[in-house]
Amino acid sequence: MFKVTIQPSGHNFDVAENETVLDAALRHSVDLSYGCRSGACGTCLGNIISGEVRYETEPVALDEEMISSGKALFCMAIPVSDLVIGAEELDELADIEIRNLRCRVEQKDRLNHDVISLKIKLAGDERLQYHAGQYIEFILEDGKRRAFSIANAPHKDELIELHIRHVDGGVFTDFLFEEMPDKSMLRMEGPFGSFYLREKTERPVLLVGGGTGFGPIKAIIEHAIYVGLTQPFHIFMGVRALRDLYMDDLVQEWLKNNKNISFTPVLSAPADEDKWQGETGYVHEIVAKTFKDLSGFDIYLCGPPPMINAAVEQFMKQGAKKENMFSDAFEYSEDALKALEGK
Ligand code: FES
Repeated sequence: MFKVTIQPSGHNFDVAENETVLDAALRHSVDLSYGCRSGACGTCLGNIISGEVRYETEPVALDEEMISSGKALFCMAIPVSDLVIGAEELDELADIEIRNLRCRVEQKDRLNHDVISLKIKLAGDERLQYHAGQYIEFILEDGKRRAFSIANAPHKDELIELHIRHVDGGVFTDFLFEEMPDKSMLRMEGPFGSFYLREKTERPVLLVGGGTGFGPIKAIIEHAIYVGLTQPFHIFMGVRALRDLYMDDLVQEWLKNNKNISFTPVLSAPADEDKWQGETGYVHEIVAKTFKDLSGFDIYLCGPPPMINAAVEQFMKQGAKKENMFSDAFEYSEDALKALEGK
């Protein structure tokens, strides 16, 4: 195992066997710039101040002259000794580039009766740099936009996974669910949003979601596991009935392998056939009942605006600090709202 030290920050981290400098940096929550993660774009270019690296395949964006002047592409460079490298670390959000890109629908899977997982791939093998919990927007042909949270962690970014609920009469989700041919090309922009995991604190974390709010929670948990965070992560998911929950196998796997993660589903209107023995009511009420003092938590809220508003109001009464609460409200688009209202 080799050690990489970054200048000028002085941060350092270990690199596993055959691991690239970039992969190891991301695994240790060190944000270096990247784009394609395949040696083509040059975004991850930096300096080798001391030590040596090797490449499994020759990176397109690096020539002999660059190598002899001490340059390296960290997305492909595998250390063969301890390294000191010159690279700027990103200042969380400020330095993450918002990009407008074409993408192709690679996979569409049903997750429950009204939610699909849509996996998209960026054109030209691009990769999108983002923080766990952020969202992207699809730009439709008429220029309208639809926002969806990214449901996978940044280290596994070959495909971008989105969880999308079907809204009857919502033009875009009708199209996605019913008409969209395989391999359709779409245009997207992102990443956006300040709803992302603050990984440099050690406070226990509350993740409170409604419906497809599970998507960004999934991205955050996958990232927390990947970077080895050990503080408690309490997930509370609010849905109407049992059939609205999804990805239970994945949740059970998290619980089995990570003692610091807990999961509490809360049903607001369980069906008779659910034979539900668990928590019922509004999800924020169950959180408030479980943790009387919320002053020490980082709190992440994602779901419909009424859920978020009610949660913020209640949680502040119980000591939650505004600066440690982050939310991502899923606003319905105008056409979806009209459809819901029967207009
Ligand atoms: S060359 Fe594109 S991220 Fe490394």
